[in-house]
Amino acid sequence: MTQLFPRNFGFLFLLGLAVAVGIGLAWVYLWRAQMAYPAGLNAPVEQPVPFSHKHHVGDDGIDCRYCHQSVEQSAFAGIPPLSTCMTCHSQLYTHQPVLAPLLAAFRSGVPLHWKRLYKLPDFVYFNHGIHVAKGVGCASCHGEIDKMPLTARARSLTMQWCLRCHRDPARYLRPRDEVFNLHWHAQDQLALGERLVRKYHIDTSRMTDCSLCHR
Ligand code: HEC
Ligand code: HEC
Ligand code: HEC
Ligand code: HEC
Ligand code: HEC
Repeated sequence: MTQLFPRNFGFLFLLGLAVAVGIGLAWVYLWRAQMAYPAGLNAPVEQPVPFSHKHHVGDDGIDCRYCHQSVEQSAFAGIPPLSTCMTCHSQLYTHQPVLAPLLAAFRSGVPLHWKRLYKLPDFVYFNHGIHVAKGVGCASCHGEIDKMPLTARARSLTMQWCLRCHRDPARYLRPRDEVFNLHWHAQDQLALGERLVRKYHIDTSRMTDCSLCHR
């Protein structure tokens, strides 16, 4: 009788299975790395007080720097202390129930715990100051936050996401004085971007060096 299966069928079967499992695991690993935050992109996050960028920035026109004071000079943009809120809310809306936790926290001196939306792992170095100085808009990394009644994370912050811009920043750069304008658009982005790369002395040759972000 002819053999139905080759003699080493068992071995080949196991080899095939091992390769398939290996490819599967590699795929899952890459997919997870890409989707580092599987849940929550563009999903509004509940906060201790329902702070609205839509009202404060979109409707009332308050500048980012009023609350995120260190964004131009330092690595961190900073989250405002309650005293910043109280410059207005010691008079405005004081009897609104939504503001009760804010007033209670201010009186007791216990800060509110805002949930963080953008957080890089400790092994990644990032700096706001240089991005602002070189003409990268807040909206390029945080979206149109003036349309958000509750803040949501608009970008993934994966390494590939950072690199997409670092490989070719001309596609994203804007004049420095438009950095805080969330709705700015260039007529001809590439021509302008290439001019700004030269004007702001951006050294594109080192922007993908591992040691730039992993120090
Ligand atoms: C009136 C004060 C105020 C103004 C003005 C303001 N913000 Fe905020 N911002 C906050 C507060 C409070 C939080 C924390 C609560 C939250 O996430 O909504 C915050 C959170 C954020 C976050 C999320 C930070 C994190 O990792 O959790 C980003 C990004 C941000 N603001 C960007 C901006 C930009 C861009 C502007 C200007 C267009 C701006 N903000 C104007 C008060 C303000
Ligand atoms: C420059 C003045 C100003 C500052 C500073 C300010 N607010 Fe307000 N806030 C307002 C005004 C004006 C309204 C009325 C909102 C509207 O309808 O436009 C308001 C409304 C609110 C409301 C009611 C819900 C809403 O959005 O309508 C909450 C909650 C609130 N603010 C939280 C905060 C917190 C938290 C801070 C500090 C991070 C803060 N505000 C800082 C002016 C301010
Ligand atoms: C190149 C992308 C990029 C740009 C441009 C950018 N941010 Fe951020 N932002 C980030 C990243 C990444 C984080 C998380 C930083 C961390 O975890 O160390 C962050 C965090 C924040 C936070 C949370 C507090 C903090 O400092 O970690 C605030 C508030 C914020 N950004 C506001 C702004 C404002 C306002 C602007 C415009 C002037 C701006 N960002 C421009 C990428 C950017
Ligand atoms: C939309 C464009 C853009 C995005 C997105 C972006 N960057 Fe940048 N980044 C720049 C530009 C432009 C520079 C300035 C480079 C220069 O001047 O040589 C820069 C510079 C830097 C530097 C150098 C800082 C220094 O002190 O020399 C670091 C570190 C950095 N970026 C980290 C990051 C990380 C981490 C991310 C992702 C979380 C990121 N960037 C996302 C455009 C971007
Ligand atoms: C522009 C900034 C930037 C540059 C340049 C960069 N990285 Fe990263 N890297 C990141 C960020 C941001 C993360 C965190 C990603 C996350 O949390 O999902 C990361 C994560 C990693 C990780 C952890 C595994 C992972 O995917 O989360 C490794 C390993 C790594 N980087 C290696 C490198 C190597 C090797 C280079 C040079 C070829 C490099 N990186 C260049 C920003 C950068």
